[in-house]
Amino acid sequence: MRNTGEAVTTLAEDLDRSGELRRRARERTPGGVHSNVRLDGPDVVLARAKGPRLYSVDGVDYVDYLLGQGPALYGHAPGFLTSAVHQASCDGLIFGGQSELEVRAAELVCSTVGWAEMVRFALTGTEAVQAAFRLARAVTGRTHIVRFEGHYHGWLDNVLIADRDGVWEAASAGQVASHLNDFTVLPWNDADALADLFHRDGERIAAVVMEPVVINAGVIEPEPGYLERVRRMCSRHGIVLIFDEVISGFRLGPGGATHRYGVTPDLALYGKALGGGYPVSALAGRADLLNRMGTGEVNHSGTFNAWAPGMAAVIATLEHIRDEAPYTSIMAHGEKLMAGIRKIGESFGEPLRVAGLPMAFHVSFGDIGDIDVTDYRSLQQLDLSRYASLASVLVEHGVWVARRGVWFVSEAHGPVELDGTLTRFEMAFKDWLGR
Ligand SMILES: Cc1ncc(COP(=O)(O)O)c(C=O)c1O
Repeated sequence: MRNTGEAVTTLAEDLDRSGELRRRARERTPGGVHSNVRLDGPDVVLARAKGPRLYSVDGVDYVDYLLGQGPALYGHAPGFLTSAVHQASCDGLIFGGQSELEVRAAELVCSTVGWAEMVRFALTGTEAVQAAFRLARAVTGRTHIVRFEGHYHGWLDNVLIADRDGVWEAASAGQVASHLNDFTVLPWNDADALADLFHRDGERIAAVVMEPVVINAGVIEPEPGYLERVRRMCSRHGIVLIFDEVISGFRLGPGGATHRYGVTPDLALYGKALGGGYPVSALAGRADLLNRMGTGEVNHSGTFNAWAPGMAAVIATLEHIRDEAPYTSIMAHGEKLMAGIRKIGESFGEPLRVAGLPMAFHVSFGDIGDIDVTDYRSLQQLDLSRYASLASVLVEHGVWVARRGVWFVSEAHGPVELDGTLTRFEMAFKDWLGR
């Protein structure tokens, strides 16, 4: 297959150079990857990412719906972003002091999300989550934190968990399991479960953290009234409400899930789309909370925090959102794909389930009519492994998707890519069913 944009099949012999590089990678890098999330990814080595496509070292092109796990909301390497970062880089990479760029970036984050009064920048979502926990504990004088099944908040010892036969445990060898002792894991979308816990233990709880729309587990939206009730309960018990908008922020709209669902947290975390592919994250929220960092009382540090080109990326991204709002086209792209994939499932008489939002949606197999997916547990009733097997064949047919079922859509996916994707999907489906 060679850079056509049309439906084609990737033949194994097309991937010779990838095979050689993957062999060398495994010699020098554990598993041949630098993030464990990529361990079950395709055995393809990429050379270039531009707009909605990835290009392998073998010259094969893929229409990309992973988008770097979310950041490339405007497509890969958009000119408005790379030129702003290039220009800033020429003026210096890291100052060890303050820059005008970081002032403008912080102002833009606050005005774009529309509710936050202050912001602290970091590099990754993982770090921003930890900063929020420390701040919440400092302001409440409590240590316990409530989180939810299937929500992802990074890879560190106090947040990485796995479901082992219904029990949430440390997910990694070497993880200090006692770091999880200060956390309670509850089912999400169940306000009564939270109310019970608050009733018993509210005085011990510093914070509640959640993905306000669970993009990491099935792209599940909150039930009507759920977030409102959580908000009211947190306020009543003096508990800090933290929205982890690392994926949903700037993807769902300028104001993220906070604006979409009309519920305001005390603190929120942003990352991924905020830098459009450059590593930048932010902890944003109420000034009376964040100011505790300003007094020096709560430590939050980092050599690369607010690095100048990263700040230029934030400014370029948020000015792009302000001046050329990409959301109408992103939604139209997602809707077209969702409808097209559903239709393909119907035409093959297969229970292909497509759910979620147009900007990020989830594909799986399952009884489309009967299963009401409202949380991680109900998601497990679907046949997720069957979709994972289809996903591998989709990649062979030039559609780059994650095996876990999430599809991210960008501004850059035009009619050629969308139509081409549906044709490729149909061919992959036929091929996969025949295997
Ligand atoms: C909701 C959420 N929070 C936090 C993180 C951690 O972000 P990072 O991988 O940048 O550390 C992720 C990463 O996927 C995420 O999806």
